[in-house]
Amino acid sequence: MFKIGVLVSGGGTNLQAIIDSINNGIIKDAKIETVVSNKEDAFALQRAKNNNIETKVLKIKDFENKQLYENALIEHLKSKELDLIILAGFMVILSENFVNNFENKIINIHPSLIPAFSGAGYYGIKVHESVLARGCKITGATVHFVTEEADCGPIIIQKEVFVNDNDTAETLQKRVMEEAEWIILPQAINLILNKQIKIVDNIVRRI
Ligand code: GRF
Repeated sequence: MFKIGVLVSGGGTNLQAIIDSINNGIIKDAKIETVVSNKEDAFALQRAKNNNIETKVLKIKDFENKQLYENALIEHLKSKELDLIILAGFMVILSENFVNNFENKIINIHPSLIPAFSGAGYYGIKVHESVLARGCKITGATVHFVTEEADCGPIIIQKEVFVNDNDTAETLQKRVMEEAEWIILPQAINLILNKQIKIVDNIVRRI
């Protein structure tokens, strides 16, 4: 059984896409062992509970400093002996020490075609506002491995979404989720689970 941990902060639609893919057999022989949130009111926690998945809330402000917070998070995740950790809308920047504890075992979903609109300051609705402000005709989503530098790890899958003339940041955000994020996240999990990819010189290659 391939053991997955999912880190969330918000609505959890990407978590739901993973749950649905496991339930309908698109992802086989996998189990979400834990869903961890840094916010106790994240709706993602309810989605986990609805599916009898164990949840844990770890809030940064309950710890003296960020390092102690990360230590608790590392300890919890290690105790689950996970094969893969998925950042699914987790709004905490993780340190190099955290990433080094789970080498090539953490992936993230980002709502743009990296390297466009990625890195510091590009999160949530801001990404889509920036895409519209620049007049881009195409955007999309990216699943990538997590390294110490935000949004810079090896790219696993990308999918494009066309921008409409009448899009608002909100309508674009919704379509990027529906047409890209919820599709490529399960696909990326399957590529890793089925050992179909490897990282060579920071580039993801099919095996
Ligand atoms: C998604 O747009 C994801 O790409 C980004 O954060 C958002 C999370 O949404 N990293 P949800 O909580 O999965 O609905």
